[in-house]
Amino acid sequence: MSFGSFPDVRPRRLRSTPAMRRLVAETRIDPAQLVLPLFVRDDVVEPVPLTSMPGVLQHSFDSLKAAVTEAAEAGLGGVMLFGVPADQAKDAQGTAATDPDGVLNAATRIVAAEVGDALVVQTDLCLDEFTDHGHCGVLDARGAVDNDATLLRYRDMALEQARAGSQLLGLSGMMDGQVGAVRTALDAEGFDEVAILAYAAKYASAFYGPFREAVGSTLRGDRKTYQLDPANRREGLREAVLDVAEGADIVMVKPALSYLDLVADVSAAVPVPVWAYQVSGEYAMIEAAAANGWIDRERAILESLVSIRRAGAEAVLTYWAVEVARVLKGSA
Ligand code: PBG
Repeated sequence: MSFGSFPDVRPRRLRSTPAMRRLVAETRIDPAQLVLPLFVRDDVVEPVPLTSMPGVLQHSFDSLKAAVTEAAEAGLGGVMLFGVPADQAKDAQGTAATDPDGVLNAATRIVAAEVGDALVVQTDLCLDEFTDHGHCGVLDARGAVDNDATLLRYRDMALEQARAGSQLLGLSGMMDGQVGAVRTALDAEGFDEVAILAYAAKYASAFYGPFREAVGSTLRGDRKTYQLDPANRREGLREAVLDVAEGADIVMVKPALSYLDLVADVSAAVPVPVWAYQVSGEYAMIEAAAANGWIDRERAILESLVSIRRAGAEAVLTYWAVEVARVLKGSA
């Protein structure tokens, strides 16, 4: 029934009070759905702040222990560890990645012992932090990234990470066949319980800029021969479907905010959990705008995260994980 020129349908009724809005909210963020990425060095005693990511640190082993304990207390779902080897520990093959005492494997042992029951301990499985040329794989004679030679390195890396106590391997290198290669290697060594998080749709993005400082990247050039072209939506879905077929337990879309169409496509298409990575540049943009007084920092952070969840991501990697968990619990 309608009354003259007045509407007979009034969606505003469900927005009328805070209690009503809370009751009809379609999307929530739970601390258990947040994963904190952490950078660790073995050549510093004190943590090193990152200029391009205000509030984020390169950890020492000691400060890493404190950070993962804090993450567990905040109720996070997990932590994702990135190793930052000293420049002299880098070489063409990324040898330090498969050294049981290399920075990432050593840090993983510490974190697994500290919070292995409270959190899912996850490790970045990629060579770029460990190679002197900065690429995610090893190079062939012409200087191109050699897909299949890289798979052999990833298999060894996966085994060392599993031995160190990683429970979920983050395959972020975008080599063809990497999920299948790593799965086979893990299973052959009895690591059938170690899970694979495939960075399935990872784009060659300018939003990784600040991360390069975070890991002391030596890369010249770009990653466009292995990471996806930002113009391509169908191809991102193809990558996710392939990774699931190869045995990925979870697939990820990365970056998050500029790729929400992919998050929605992938979450509609695959029967495994879909995660998204709110990357360094997404963090830096909000922090920079907030520092200038141009944006409400906390609201912008929460809105960005709820958007990523709304698009279909079940969990999100975010540098704000601990802070957001505290805000959600009303303890910030
Ligand atoms: C590669 C890797 C990158 C990021 C995570 N893993 C960088 C790249 O692909 O160039 C970026 C994360 C971020 O920007 O927050 N190991």
